[in-house]
Amino acid sequence: MSQLDKFKRFTVTSALPYANGPLHIGHLAGAYLPADIFVRYLRLKKRDVVYICGSDEHGAAITIKAKKENTTPQAIIDKYHQQIKQSFEEFGIAFDIYHRTSSPIHHDLSQEFFLNLYEKDEFVEKYSEQYFDEDFQQFLADRYIVGTCPNCSNPNAYGDQCENCGTSLNPTDLINPVSTLSGKPPVLKPTKHWYLPLDKYQPWLEKWIDEKEGEWKVNVFGQCKSWLKSGLQPRSMTRDLDWGIDVPLEEAKGKKLYVWMDAPIGYISATKQWAIDHNKDWTLYWKKQKKAEDDTCLIHFIGKDNIVFHCIIFPAILRAHGEYVLPQNVPANEFLNLEGDKLSTSRNHAVWLHEYLEEFPGKQDELRYVLTSILPETSDSEFTWRDYQARVNNELVAILGNFVNRVMILVHKFFDGKVESEGKVELYDAGLTIELDRFYEEIERNLETYKFRQGLQAVMDIARLGNKYLTEKEPWKTIKTNPDDARLALHNCLVLIGHLAIYLQPFLPAAAKKIFHMLNWDDVHFGFDKDVKFKPGHRLNPAELLFEKVEDAVIEAQIDKLNSKKQAAAPAVQVQAAKENINYESFATMDIRIGTILEAEKVAKTKKLVKLTIDTGIDKRTVVSGIAEHYEPEAIIGRKVSILVNLEPREIKGIVSQGMILMAEDSSGKLSFVSPADDLHNGSVVR
Ligand code: 2FM
Ligand code: ZN
Repeated sequence: MSQLDKFKRFTVTSALPYANGPLHIGHLAGAYLPADIFVRYLRLKKRDVVYICGSDEHGAAITIKAKKENTTPQAIIDKYHQQIKQSFEEFGIAFDIYHRTSSPIHHDLSQEFFLNLYEKDEFVEKYSEQYFDEDFQQFLADRYIVGTCPNCSNPNAYGDQCENCGTSLNPTDLINPVSTLSGKPPVLKPTKHWYLPLDKYQPWLEKWIDEKEGEWKVNVFGQCKSWLKSGLQPRSMTRDLDWGIDVPLEEAKGKKLYVWMDAPIGYISATKQWAIDHNKDWTLYWKKQKKAEDDTCLIHFIGKDNIVFHCIIFPAILRAHGEYVLPQNVPANEFLNLEGDKLSTSRNHAVWLHEYLEEFPGKQDELRYVLTSILPETSDSEFTWRDYQARVNNELVAILGNFVNRVMILVHKFFDGKVESEGKVELYDAGLTIELDRFYEEIERNLETYKFRQGLQAVMDIARLGNKYLTEKEPWKTIKTNPDDARLALHNCLVLIGHLAIYLQPFLPAAAKKIFHMLNWDDVHFGFDKDVKFKPGHRLNPAELLFEKVEDAVIEAQIDKLNSKKQAAAPAVQVQAAKENINYESFATMDIRIGTILEAEKVAKTKKLVKLTIDTGIDKRTVVSGIAEHYEPEAIIGRKVSILVNLEPREIKGIVSQGMILMAEDSSGKLSFVSPADDLHNGSVVR
């Protein structure tokens, strides 16, 4: 019995990518490839499913890019929407619709949502002071204000962040702020906004999230709990911006909907468009039905940076509206790194999908295979070109391709490409049947619990089993001494290949199709079935190579390309000048020890602070550290750190901090723990 059987239908979404740049492998590994595998599986199971995505075309991400490229937001979204859509198509992500949030149907629905909540008095209206450009008569988004960074004195810091030292800022933190529109100092002016009182929903959200324990992935559940623990605050659903969806109120002229009151509604408006195009009823895929058991199963595939929006803010919006179902699951992935470094659009450190498709034509499955094998399902993971080469050559070519190819060649050679002259061919070997049943269950279980890495490995294990079986049976020898044995062994191998083709479909659709063709099964419509049968006298098509080896030169060229791109994009490193000399005695007054982080939690109502409990070897103590923007609290428990233990205790946000964790900071503002390379015991002295 499958775990998903209880649902009548499925609404699957992948995060709407911002139409402000091309796609890279990090996007694929986060929200698209896992969803695509899952949806293909559901379709093979003949389930009623709609798979929704589209471009997110509003928000500061778009206007900033337009400014950078010296063009209009409209030109930016038109350019990148087209490019992203085409890359997805060529790569084979099987959306039912790839829509866009600039469409009228989406604007209308977002406004309808806002008005629904407004009319029900769900919003709290509040005034706050924000910078205003008097010449241009408009409020300024954070990025439209520059000034001197209070932290490093960089004169070109933005209202939300200093790109020199990495500090995140509020516009009012800037010294001598200037509007980038008029070049003049802006004035502070009160402005009215409509806030969703998330604090009011906190008790309901807590209960709802708690029910997901054990069902949702640990990383997702943990992040939700830690947000709830810090206490939810009202969040403004409107913005003073010039790009986005108009707030549909007379008194809100010139204001736009906050992008998170717009983008996720894009899933719904895209479904509406798909329903119009295919003569379907969209409400079945979003609205609560008369009986709860008739509701759709809503699943959002996203990257971890979007967890709070999909697990807290959007559910609160849906709940406030009242007519919509809530997500059943949000299987968010962590991040994919590339060659030992974070993927970065601004530093051009990425494997761009459109470039891969151009440079590796017809090799979509190779990338699908490698990415699925390393999906960041439970923690961040890493793509390297050497690993790509090793997985293609040692796994796809040497295990899967080799098994299929050997069997096909032998059947053609010894039996003229025929499966069996008479009778139904099934698996004759009881041992293999048991193994296959086990694999089927394992693949199904993993696919239904979002463990795609393990699912794919279980499929590959069938090919491993096949190779082992073929080597043991040696039909190329027994054909001379005992042809019936050879016939039986090759039949069994063909049945294994049939199973492989079926189970590979969601993971490697092109390879599965090729195998179907070799088996001469093109006319059969396959589901996800474990009954593999050949008709008597069934004739196979000629053998084709499934995968080709990747040569060293190809990989080296990719590594060189990455390095040269990175160098070209790298800002000059700024190293601070040395401070004045001190004598040894001054240094020796500092008592620095090695300790271990026992507990870590974000300090409520702060952006940067984390409360740590440290085992210093001397004692266990509390330290407040400004690292929240660099490390997830859950991820650092158990880490060794260096701690200054004789710093005078200091009260920070009501917590007495007893010491300081030593951190290294580079010129870009990146922070890193200063940890011992060896596993020194707590209390070890640093000097
Ligand atoms: O983070 C992002 O790329 C956003 N554009 C995701 C939006 S997801 C959704 F809600 F549409
Ligand atoms: Zn700075």
